Formats: sequence, structure tokens, C-alpha cells
Amino acid sequence: MERARRAKAALGDRLFILGHHYQRDEVIQFADVTGDSFKLAREAAARPNAEFIVFCGVHFMAESADILTAPEQKVILPDLAAGCSMADMARLAQVEDAWDVLADAGVADVTVPVTYMNSSADIKAFCGKHDGVVCTSSNAKAVLKWALNRGEKVLFFPDQHLGRNTAVLQMGMSLDDCVVYDPHKYNGGLTAEELQAATMILWKGHCSVHGRFTHEAVDEVRARIPGVNVLVHPECQHEVVLKSDLIGSTEFIIKTIQQAEPGSKWAIGTELNLVKRLANDHPDLEITFLEQHVCYCATMNRIDLPHLVWALENLAQGHVVNQITVDPETEHYAKAALQRMLDLPGETARD
Ligand code: 13P
Ligand code: SF4
Repeated sequence: MERARRAKAALGDRLFILGHHYQRDEVIQFADVTGDSFKLAREAAARPNAEFIVFCGVHFMAESADILTAPEQKVILPDLAAGCSMADMARLAQVEDAWDVLADAGVADVTVPVTYMNSSADIKAFCGKHDGVVCTSSNAKAVLKWALNRGEKVLFFPDQHLGRNTAVLQMGMSLDDCVVYDPHKYNGGLTAEELQAATMILWKGHCSVHGRFTHEAVDEVRARIPGVNVLVHPECQHEVVLKSDLIGSTEFIIKTIQQAEPGSKWAIGTELNLVKRLANDHPDLEITFLEQHVCYCATMNRIDLPHLVWALENLAQGHVVNQITVDPETEHYAKAALQRMLDLPGETARD
């Protein structure tokens, strides 16, 4: 910790550290700003004077920061193995194949592609090229509204759960309006008629952390803790969200807990580092993790204190390590899709 402090002090205003809420305590204590992926994208774009943006989060977030910052600014990811299994579930070649399937069904022209922030830069660029947009869990409703004002259908990737939860619980669609496109099946496993009838074409992807919460865990916690409020992230499965009391992004979860009545009881379904931190910071509340068998996000957890110290000390000594760069063409189109998102009003929650 002393070495991290020294390196940070030596770099001064040249350095800005962003920390996602799922980061370890040992890392988050050094962040200049903490946030969900939407807030961090905005914060990165608002720091034109920082020479180095050290991103304590995962690869797709650092790519977005590079896209939204000036060419001379350098974005650093302390461990290059900090990827995201959900982002890996949608590859550019698969998405291009899906677009051809939609074209063959005669619906590509009326479909707006929407990618969750949790996707690689080339997928965001695909959306930018096809008049689509990026969304995060805190603005998915506003983004879907925007998209459905411009087209008749949305191809939503990579998280089927965020897409379904937003469409059904916030946009008034039914489950029958949604179909699931499986990139590992011929034509996505869908007929042309199914694609023509659907409003939401959901990519078959999920978060390997949030996707593991079960609706049985909601029943179990309600039986165990009478009066408990169940608060979950919209990356959770639809059955889990249906049984919960409140749903929202990590930033929404934090605000909800900050405003909670003293003595109230909460079961939270999101990443464990955040739930533990909330429980520590709010001893006046009874906070429990929703499911006993869900682990930390393995890739978020890769950013640990040794990796952060290594990156900061190298920067302080003039060695730029683990820089994340997006090539200019990808950046151009991805920025268009990101900027459309940043220009929209945000905040979603359901109660
Ligand atoms: P938010 O930060 O947008 O809530 O997303 C959660 C997440 O899974 C980030 O990887
Ligand atoms: Fe990816 Fe899920 Fe980890 Fe977020 S929590 S980085 S979506 S695997």
C-alpha cells in the first residue's frame, strides 16, 4: 500500500485512477473515482488533462475509456487477463453472420443493433456502422426507447437477461415479443417467421456471475429473513428479477442502500466484493449476499494490489505498461455508438 501511495503521489495530476464497484477493497481505495460502467465511461471522457488513465475494471471498460479519451492519453489495464466472459460470448464474425441471417429474413433494414457496454470495441463499432447504439444497465430503457423509435426491432447483445428484463419489465413487452438467437446454431436456431414476428432478438449470452443467482435463493432468503428486501442487478435471470423487489445497476444498488431505513434488511444479488463493501459500510443495516454458491467475478478480481503497484511504479519510472489501444477505424465507429448513448438521459430502476 505504501508503494502504491508513493507511485501515485509521484505521478500527481498526470494520473487518474478509475475503479469499478466490483473491484477489491485493496484496489478501490486508490481510485480517484468509483462507479458503474456508465459513470466510469463518462468520467473517462471528462478527464482531458490526465496523461494516464489507469482502469481498475475489465478489458471492455478500458477499451471504451480509450475510445472516449484523446489520442495522447494512455489507458492502462493493470492485468491484461482481466477480460469478461460475457463480452467473449459475442464475437464480431458471429454478429456479422447474425446480421446476414436477419437480412435473409428481410428484417435487417428495420432492426437496430444495441450492444451492452460489456462487449468488445469491434462489436461497438459494428453498432456504430449500422446506426445502432451502446447501452449500460443504468440506461437500457432509454436506449431501447431510442432504438425502437428508429426501427421496428432490436438485435440486443451479448446479455439476453438485461435485454429481456428491460423489454418486459420496463418497456411493457411480453416474453412472446422476445426470441433468443443462439450463435452456435444454424441461423441462430430461429426461422425467418420467428425473426419477423419478434421485437427483441436477444443474443444467447449471459454474465457468469449474475447468471448464477437462482429464484430458489430468493424464496430461501425470504423464508430465512422475514421482511427482507431483495435487490438485484438486471443481468440476473428473468425468474430471479421477477421475484425481487428492486432491480438496478451497481450505482442504483449503492444509492438504494445509502438511502435505506436504519434496521432494514437486504439480500443483494450482485458481485460479492460490492455486497461485502456495502455490508461493511452500513453496519446499521442487515445485508446478506443473495446466494451462497456464487463466486467473485474472477476477471474483475485479477486486478489486485500487486498488479496495480506494478503498473503505477512502471508509469512513474517512464515505462508505459499494459496500454489498451483501439485501432482508429474501430474507434471511429465505436465512438459513434458510445456517443449516442452518452447523449441520452440515463437512470433505470424498477420497483
Ligand atoms: P454495471 O457496472 O453497468 O452495473 O455492470 C455490471 C457489470 O457486470 C460490469 O461488468
Ligand atoms: Fe463480465 Fe459478469 Fe464479470 Fe461483469 S460481473 S465483468 S459482466 S463476468
